[in-house]
Amino acid sequence: MVKVTVCGGAGGIGQPLSLLVKLNPNVSELAIFDIVNAKGVAADLSHINTSAVVTGYQPKDKEDKSAIEGALKGTDIVVIPAGVPRKPGMTRADLFNVNASIVRDLAASIAKVAPNARVLIISNPVNSTVPIAAEVFKKLGVFNPHKLFGVTTLDSVRAETFLGDLLLVSPGYVKGRISVIGGHSGDTIVPLTNVVPDINGSKLSGEAYAKFVHRVQFGGDEVVQAKNGAGSATLSMAYAGYRFTEHIIESLVGNRTSDSNRISDSAYVYLPGLEGGNDLVKLHLNGVEYFSVPVELENGQIKSFVDPFTLLNITDDERKLVDVALKGLQSSIDQGVNFVAGSK
Ligand code: APR
Repeated sequence: MVKVTVCGGAGGIGQPLSLLVKLNPNVSELAIFDIVNAKGVAADLSHINTSAVVTGYQPKDKEDKSAIEGALKGTDIVVIPAGVPRKPGMTRADLFNVNASIVRDLAASIAKVAPNARVLIISNPVNSTVPIAAEVFKKLGVFNPHKLFGVTTLDSVRAETFLGDLLLVSPGYVKGRISVIGGHSGDTIVPLTNVVPDINGSKLSGEAYAKFVHRVQFGGDEVVQAKNGAGSATLSMAYAGYRFTEHIIESLVGNRTSDSNRISDSAYVYLPGLEGGNDLVKLHLNGVEYFSVPVELENGQIKSFVDPFTLLNITDDERKLVDVALKGLQSSIDQGVNFVAGSK
């Protein structure tokens, strides 16, 4: 049985994500941490008759660390959707300063109270917030690259849905058969369609392929526009965040219930900390150290990753997309690293 802590658990993503966690039979404790309404959300969820005991933790003021420390105490998994969402006209980069500070401070608390927990970051821009958490963990001497994940599952979920639409096949057919690599915003996102054998080079080419790639890369904008000022993707993100959390839980308790034939979901990780990661960085990623790749999990941590360049038959078109992605990624990573270096 595991304890899961959701930081930002009263938010648009945090609430439905916490609901899904509450329904997982392997969760014994669910801690909701938020600066507003944490106790209300926890009380509401606690009336659901599943085994997880739900507790809300809300700080009295900015100086109060007891709430976050209580929420993190003894936790196995920390999921972080805390932050401010994207409004129309705002890029993910605009969110940077607010969310960067939130993730930096939460990472410092995790380092102190739950240094062995698996940490799943949803707060955007993920391309920068994951390096921020890593830098904080490095500074405090607790960095374990096998346990730090940028959640990019929504890109895979969107790719599965949009590819299903395009090919007029059921989403179930595509689910788990397409990998998305790279980063988690705009043209840093690279869907790899050739892992679906019978469509490669046939139905999906030319304009259809370009449209598909664009829709996966900028699908988040469709939601931002449709919500018209009310925020960015929350329900699909909560589903995707939960899907990855569930893989972690299953690998922790050794009870895999989801489709074992599927390709592993990708996560945005620090490659030099993983076996074979330095080679990938040097040979294929022009020195870029953070990249989303499919990961195999064991005991809630990364056991290995799938090298897309040798195992997933990347096409020339996809390699071009990777080259574009690498440029954007490096500057986002630098921004995150510099943010922590410039912090007290
Ligand atoms: N600690 C904990 N929670 C916080 C903090 C903090 N320091 N600061 C803000 N929060 C909480 C807010 O109180 C709110 O409940 O985070 C929650 C964020 O929820 P929303 O504002 O509804 O935003 P949401 O749409 O859920 O997006 C959150 O995830 O995908 C990303 O881009 C998105 O970065 C954004 C984040």
